Amino acid sequence: MQMPNLLEAKKRTKIEPKTINYEINKEYKNLGTNKTYHIKTYGCQMNEHDTENIKAILEQMSFKETDIMENADLILLNTCAIRENAHNKVFGMVGRIKHLKESRPNIIVGMCGCMVQEEVIAEEIISKYKWLDIVFGTHNINELPRLLSNSLQEKKLNLEVYSIEGDIIENMPAKRDSKYKAWVNIMYGCDKFCTYCIVPYTRGKQRSRTKENIINEVKELIKDGYKEVTLLGQNVNAYGKDLDVNYDMSDLLEETAQTGIERVRFITSHPWDFTDKMIEVIAKYPNVMPYIHLPLQSGSNKILKLMGRRYTKEEYITLYNKIKEIIPNCAITTDIIVGFPGETEEDFKDTLDVVNTCKYDSAFTFIFSPREGTPAAKMEDNTPLETKEQRLYELNELINKYARQANEKYQDKVVPVLIEGPSGKNKDLFMGYTDTMKLVNVNTTKDNIGKIINVKITDVKTWSMDAVEDKSE
Ligand code: SAH
Ligand code: SF4
Ligand code: F3S
Repeated sequence: MQMPNLLEAKKRTKIEPKTINYEINKEYKNLGTNKTYHIKTYGCQMNEHDTENIKAILEQMSFKETDIMENADLILLNTCAIRENAHNKVFGMVGRIKHLKESRPNIIVGMCGCMVQEEVIAEEIISKYKWLDIVFGTHNINELPRLLSNSLQEKKLNLEVYSIEGDIIENMPAKRDSKYKAWVNIMYGCDKFCTYCIVPYTRGKQRSRTKENIINEVKELIKDGYKEVTLLGQNVNAYGKDLDVNYDMSDLLEETAQTGIERVRFITSHPWDFTDKMIEVIAKYPNVMPYIHLPLQSGSNKILKLMGRRYTKEEYITLYNKIKEIIPNCAITTDIIVGFPGETEEDFKDTLDVVNTCKYDSAFTFIFSPREGTPAAKMEDNTPLETKEQRLYELNELINKYARQANEKYQDKVVPVLIEGPSGKNKDLFMGYTDTMKLVNVNTTKDNIGKIINVKITDVKTWSMDAVEDKSE
């Protein structure tokens, strides 16, 4: 048993992270023969990519994937801790799985991801969910074969969650969801410690991968036929700051563009570290997509300060204007939290004001959720939930209005789309995204799957567009 610890999770030392080369021990390779697994993934792209690693590890152990949870011999929940409702969702699912386990006691049930990195959750598991088989955290995915082997041998809760600053694990295999688009981690963890956020505790210290490892991964992906990579990190603009090299995110973005991959994206960009050189590189390389997710969080300087975001409303708008000036067709999306402790009507108006200025292409909006152990959870919060819900509603109305307006500019335009596969809502159409990350349902043929084609927009809605293949060239 290895329990996570909040005080340890907060620590940041000068100790260099170790790079560990993942390798599977031969003795684990047949443990999953004739067994199936099913994984449910919650949370952000980081977790989605972790799931891709976990799937590949399980397949090295001879497990086979099944889409039907009820049939699986191994069920894993890869969890998220960002807000309270993530907690409720996961434990709701755990309740359902308990019934399965009652009728099929031999199945193995596990939890992993950010939620189990929380000390309170690990304690809750030990007191109320002792029937779970394995629990492991974000730092020891590479140990899954050993943990599973223990569980197969002995039926007892096997909880191993480390609250360490973290290592870098290289060479983990990945069973990617897409054959055309790939996530590439460029860094792990986060050192920003925004006062509301649990991520620096669940994911540890900021650790950048070396540029060689990143670029090699991109080159391998090109060889495997991938068309698009998304460079992934909680705060990609801080890439390299923890390494002793004179090489930053703009350099990495440029070198990735120079590999010749057809599309490069990156998320997430903290406005604080966004340099002019970044904007230049995005503008210079046609294969760097004109799309930036630029979380605002709040438009009030007072609240931004309480959040520890380290920029002002004015600085944010200046950056926004600079991006739009140099890359006019750049789509910009954002994240906003309403109801942060101490947010007054006046503060909320400041947020609406920034939205009215920036007219975002779209936004994720949230009501503040106190996370145990973070500074904001201890701040005095007198705003009733009803008021927060009203603010969220008002904000969403505005966001939707601008999202639709942004889409309307595309009517009758010809734009490039990477066709990914059949559309979810109409089997005769094919879905994909524009360079600016707009979801498009295209009337085309299946031989275009995996290709970037020009399409003509025929109809726009708030969250998607319809189009036909453009054969005019
Ligand atoms: N690294 C990214 C954010 C990752 S979390 C960044 O800094 O931009 C994704 C979003 O969840 C955040 O941008 C924030 O808007 C929201 N979020 C994080 N913690 C939250 C909390 N405690 N309550 C409500 N929303 C939160
Ligand atoms: Fe959380 Fe802030 Fe780090 Fe983003 S930058 S992950 S919001 S602490
Ligand atoms: Fe959730 Fe962890 Fe991502 S808390 S948002 S899964 S980094």
